[in-house]
Amino acid sequence: MTGGLRKGLTSYGDDGFSLFLRRAFIKAMGFTDDALDRPIIGITDTASDFNPCHGNVPDLIAAAKRGIMLAGGLPMAFPTISIHESFAHPTSMFLRNLMALDTEEMLRAQPIDAVLLIGGCDKTLPAQMMGAASADIPAVVLPTGPMLVGHYRGEVLGACTDCRRLWARHRAGELDAAEIDAISGRLAPTKGTCMVMGTASTIACMTEAIGLALPGAGTAPATHADRVRLAEASGAACVRLAGAGGPTLRQIITPAALRNALTVLQAIGGSTNALIHFTAIAGRLGLPVDLDMFDRLGREVPVLVDLKPSGAHYMEHFHWAGGVPRLLAELASFLDLSAVTVSGSTIAETIASAELVPGQEVIRPCGAPIQVGGGLAVLRGSLAPGGAVLKRSAATPALLRHEGRAVVFDGLADMAARIDRDDLDVTEGDVLVLRNAGPKGAPGMPEAGALPIPRKLARAGVKDMVRISDARMSGTAFGTIVLHATPEAAVGGPLALVRSGDRIRLDTEARRIDLLVDAATLAERQAAWTAPAGAERGYLRLFLDQVLQADAGCDFAFCRPAT
Ligand code: FES
Repeated sequence: MTGGLRKGLTSYGDDGFSLFLRRAFIKAMGFTDDALDRPIIGITDTASDFNPCHGNVPDLIAAAKRGIMLAGGLPMAFPTISIHESFAHPTSMFLRNLMALDTEEMLRAQPIDAVLLIGGCDKTLPAQMMGAASADIPAVVLPTGPMLVGHYRGEVLGACTDCRRLWARHRAGELDAAEIDAISGRLAPTKGTCMVMGTASTIACMTEAIGLALPGAGTAPATHADRVRLAEASGAACVRLAGAGGPTLRQIITPAALRNALTVLQAIGGSTNALIHFTAIAGRLGLPVDLDMFDRLGREVPVLVDLKPSGAHYMEHFHWAGGVPRLLAELASFLDLSAVTVSGSTIAETIASAELVPGQEVIRPCGAPIQVGGGLAVLRGSLAPGGAVLKRSAATPALLRHEGRAVVFDGLADMAARIDRDDLDVTEGDVLVLRNAGPKGAPGMPEAGALPIPRKLARAGVKDMVRISDARMSGTAFGTIVLHATPEAAVGGPLALVRSGDRIRLDTEARRIDLLVDAATLAERQAAWTAPAGAERGYLRLFLDQVLQADAGCDFAFCRPAT
């Protein structure tokens, strides 16, 4: 037997001594030989006082341990990095690849036959799946689950779509300081992840659709008994995988399963960030995500799930309407139903057991969609030859075809300093441009792509403008916002060459974003451009040296498989 405690022995040049020493030390915890001879199921412990989205992780670990032991395994929880969106400077995306490295190397270093990955806040599940894909061991994913909704003066609130909407009203002078303070106590009323179809919810639903999480795991509320039962069942599933030696992530994430997940991304009107994250996860397995294929899916697959920010409801309503299995049933004609899952069944079997909820209005049939054509469009053109993304389902229809004058901000500090000035030369029809906010530029490609409407325009009632950047945006945001312009300005991409006053044209139907400046002028500007300085040391230096562009998932170059 080479599994269990005998796996991955510490190097002393004497395997017998290595195993003897390992047993001697672990017995300090009171384990018996019987326990130590069971399949070992690792559990990633991402609880942190800085991470309320993972506030239920201790309860989930307790339930998962119960499921593992009932199924004959030995649970071993171990800590990894935990990242919360609001507690990560300069931005959580800067740390995603560090968490992926941490997860991968701890999965390799410790004697683990299968692992239960518990995560939830935006960057955590992608990081865990990237690491587990590279480590290539059997794994089940358990999202922490969404929060319940909040309430304020009779209005239902959800983080963080309503955080942004109500903050915009405060900026416009419609809500005073006392009101916005009271609202801050109502937006996130329970532990768990943001309860709109933001990045965390999108990733959780796609993880269920790709077959790495049990049915219901993408949507069950963080604080409900369903979530605890899912933890117990996920633990038991890990023991089955350990006994069978798989499937591993490589066997679950096939091209067909990846396409299923991207189909779900379109149908839920999901977060643009998910495209970057799943590109990174698949990239660890040598699977490319073809942006043009993804855009074709976007033209064919309708948006069926009526959740904020594209629609009206919240994650708990999606769950009670049947969740991802019900959605997969509606999407069956677009899916490869033979794809296998960690529950041991195929997507076809998941669909067969989907709950049919009479009268529910959250998951629409294909014949009555929220929107014809999916949520996300891939744009190309002279401003983004490597691609850019626009969330159609959260945009203002009248702005999807628009030409306007560029108002350029050179970076986040420039934008913060000038955007609210009364003397800013800007009108409603202009196009706001933010550059140097990409993977290398900021660094870490922060969620700054939803540039605020300049205060003087917000006060005049302007709710949306065309905005373009090399940044990302929160999955909870809304507006006519072109993101991920690739290559980014910090590596000399076309965004670096835009000047205020240039004309920019967005044509979503034609999938174009163009800078209307002649080639000779652009060549002059290119010749005058200089690259920003790198970093001297530490993780920042590693990050700047290795991070890839958005179309490669912003992974580190050295983490991709050798070709
Ligand atoms: Fe953690 Fe939104 S801040 S999911």
